[in-house]
Amino acid sequence: MSKAIQAVRGMNDLLPDVCERWQHVEATAREVLHAYGYREIRLPVIEKSELFARSIGSLTDIVEKEMYSFEDRSGENLTLRPEGTAGCVRAGIENGFLHNQIQRLWYAGPMFRHERPQKGRYRQFHQIGVEAFGIESPDLDAEIIMMCARLWRALGLDGLTLQLNSLGTLECRMAYRSELVRYFESQRGKLDEDSLRRLDKNPLRILDSKNPAMQDVIAAAPSLMEHLDDASRAHFTKLGDYLRQAGIAITINPRLVRGLDYYTRTVFEWTTDRLGAQSAVCAGGRYDGLVEQLGGKPAPAAGFAVGMERLVELMALQGDKHPGTHPDAFVVLLGEAAEKQGLALAERLRNAGLRIECNCGGGGLKAQLKRADRSGARLALLLGDDEVRNASVTIKDLRDGTQRSIAQSELIDLLHKETSRGITP
Ligand code: HAM
Repeated sequence: MSKAIQAVRGMNDLLPDVCERWQHVEATAREVLHAYGYREIRLPVIEKSELFARSIGSLTDIVEKEMYSFEDRSGENLTLRPEGTAGCVRAGIENGFLHNQIQRLWYAGPMFRHERPQKGRYRQFHQIGVEAFGIESPDLDAEIIMMCARLWRALGLDGLTLQLNSLGTLECRMAYRSELVRYFESQRGKLDEDSLRRLDKNPLRILDSKNPAMQDVIAAAPSLMEHLDDASRAHFTKLGDYLRQAGIAITINPRLVRGLDYYTRTVFEWTTDRLGAQSAVCAGGRYDGLVEQLGGKPAPAAGFAVGMERLVELMALQGDKHPGTHPDAFVVLLGEAAEKQGLALAERLRNAGLRIECNCGGGGLKAQLKRADRSGARLALLLGDDEVRNASVTIKDLRDGTQRSIAQSELIDLLHKETSRGITP
């Protein structure tokens, strides 16, 4: 036997049991997003590499080290998208739906980053993302954060903390950056290798270091909050007021700087202490400069993305109950006459909105009942020579083993009652 091929490292198969949990999260998220007037947009998985360098930033970890980039057969430099914001802005400019317009959009799908895989961190992962354009005021920032809070409630999740910070405008961040570099230069001896590397390229990211030995020097660093321009400070205060009024608890984290360069003013993360090192379940913020930076007419914007793998894992840890997609009943067919009628009977039941798995490929009673058990259905509908003759069906409850016979003409009504599934058109 030749050696079996395995999946690419950091890229996971989602098997049916896991998919059911995902479908529940996706369906709930769709409901929540639609309740706020957000509309779906579907974007390509591959974009020109330049798009990400110009938006996420050429000196970020993502662009420097983590992108799946390649030359295609016509020599074009392309990248598997590491995130969704850049593509969404690109699509907005290209299709002309950003200028002087308010847009509330969402998307879902796979993203790719060549990171070191570990629990909660994968090379192919999935996001549900939101991007809203055309509103500069902090009511929008509050709305998208409230939308997250509603999603956690709808999924029955608790224990998520909202970390909030403001990065101010690009100008005040540049002034802060110079002061930060001066400070860290004076502390050079205490910096680890990673931070020394970041000092020249992306000094704000030093604040994000998880190295315990660095925490004292970081704690004493000048704070960005104190360098905010007046308008950004007022924006941040108002956002805090809106959130407190909505009953959303805030943890202000002046060290929250994010790993993508396009943010201005509001940045936030929803974190949990239940997932180990990969604690951010959702992250986002405002990016008022990005549309112009990518060649569009200026348009303010804000958004976030939920990490699906982390969210689903958190749901599993909480022992969530999600509705499965198993059939309502399994049709057991015994003998030629039953086999002749079976597929048509199953179709009639499906026409009435029921989920029916029908035995295929023959087999005796025992084998078919085993398949019925495995299908997850609660009821088996037995059709044999007698039932065909009397136009009846024997219904077997697979949990308690009880059996009864009913006329085929009453079957749909009874199954609707038993499964409480309504008739779909
Ligand atoms: P991000 O913080 O890079 O932001 O990713 C958002 C979320 O995606 C993270 O909080 C995490 O839950 C999940 N995530 C990121 N990387 C991985 C990974 N390697 N494995 C598993 N999950 C991961 C963005 O992507 C921005 N585009 C969010 C945004 C939208 N900002 C404004 N609009």
